[in-house]
Amino acid sequence: MNLLSPSILSADFTILGQQIEEADRAGAQYIHIDVMDGIFVPSISYGMPVIKSIRKATDKVFDVHLMIKDPIRYIEEFAEIGADIITFHLEAAPDVNAVIEKIRACGKKVGLSIKPGTPVEELVPYLDKVDMILVMTVEPGFGGQSIIPESFDRVRAVRKMLDDRKLDTDIQVDGGICTGNVKSILEAGANVVVAGSAVFKGNISENVKGFLDIMQ
Ligand code: DX5
Ligand code: ZN
Repeated sequence: MNLLSPSILSADFTILGQQIEEADRAGAQYIHIDVMDGIFVPSISYGMPVIKSIRKATDKVFDVHLMIKDPIRYIEEFAEIGADIITFHLEAAPDVNAVIEKIRACGKKVGLSIKPGTPVEELVPYLDKVDMILVMTVEPGFGGQSIIPESFDRVRAVRKMLDDRKLDTDIQVDGGICTGNVKSILEAGANVVVAGSAVFKGNISENVKGFLDIMQ
């Protein structure tokens, strides 16, 4: 199933709750929440108090994308405040299996992400252990960038690796996705689409519907 996960990084934070409600009402299935620590990526975004507060705005799936070093330190806390899917970066975790197990122990879905420069083969040991693979389609850290063209082949390669193992694991793409390229990235094998600026800049309802029309 194809799912849209609007990234609130590009929202207007003075009216964040309302903007999330608008994306929810328009039919977005997930809400993508980017947590950046200023170390794994250059930017610092937002953390626990914001997530706790917006949990009241919607019942949609909270798809939390951790761009933080040594994520195991915070898994329990993110689980407690309302994350439904917790995605962490393979490059940021000294013991990837330990983080997967921690997220499972908290009863949450597991996402594993790779940056554009990380060979897709590094995912192999974990393919049957996670619910979602996030193939970053830009360098993580900032919204509003353009998709890296090699991303299409990388998504195709990950889908093949999953198919070869008879796994129907979700593939999420994040960064530079717009209504102009979403069809091609779905054809490459992705099924969970993150979009930040393409949803929150302009009319949110229209933007969400524009994506969903193409995705369904
Ligand atoms: C970037 C974040 C993204 C970001 C995407 O590091 O992971 O989720 O919000 O923004 P757009 O869709 O504008 O590229
Ligand atoms: Zn993200």
